[in-house]
Amino acid sequence: MSQRQLSFVDRLLGEADTVLRTLNSRSNHATRPSPAEGHEDTELDEQQRRHVSGLMRVNHTGEVCAQALYQGQALTARLPTVRKEMEQAAREEVDHLVWCEQRLQELDSKPSLLNPLWYGTSFLLGAAAGVIGDEVSLGFVAATEERVCGHLRDHLKQLPTDDNRSRLILQEMLEDEERHGHNALEAGGVDFPTPVKDAMTAVSKVMTTSSYWV
Ligand SMILES: [Fe+2]
Ligand SMILES: [Fe+2]
Repeated sequence: MSQRQLSFVDRLLGEADTVLRTLNSRSNHATRPSPAEGHEDTELDEQQRRHVSGLMRVNHTGEVCAQALYQGQALTARLPTVRKEMEQAAREEVDHLVWCEQRLQELDSKPSLLNPLWYGTSFLLGAAAGVIGDEVSLGFVAATEERVCGHLRDHLKQLPTDDNRSRLILQEMLEDEERHGHNALEAGGVDFPTPVKDAMTAVSKVMTTSSYWV
């Protein structure tokens, strides 16, 4: 087998490992402590607990999608620098994934049952963007992160005022996602036209609505 084929097989195996870890709760490890660490939890009534759980479940699914998207792109990206950048961002998304999962546990709730479906969809989209070209791939990251930032800002407004633990997690995630989007454009990503962004918003709406409940 040629060196090139071998490195592709290596990446495929690495990807299979990531799929299993992402979808299997508690097998991921964050490289940074949760921003909620050291901050006291607040007492939420049942209605608030359910609502915050729904929001955190949506954010957790978003991070599952981010993992899939970055891994799909890293697999098909042509330039090693682009691949490296995707992998670095994907590592930061693991932190987000773990923080959201920890918060869901604290709220006595669970990740979405639909995560495997969303992982598969996002992986294919990421890989397809990577096949088209690095500029499109990076543009897809930027447009996706823009959508994620929109959700996070909206969720931050919806959180009960004294739910500091959820708020600190979402604030830190928002900063990271803004940087990921900015870096993707700086690295040469195309700014997608509005109709494409609107279509992406429509798809993400299906994801957020379903993950809130299931
Ligand atoms: Fe993230
Ligand atoms: Fe991100």
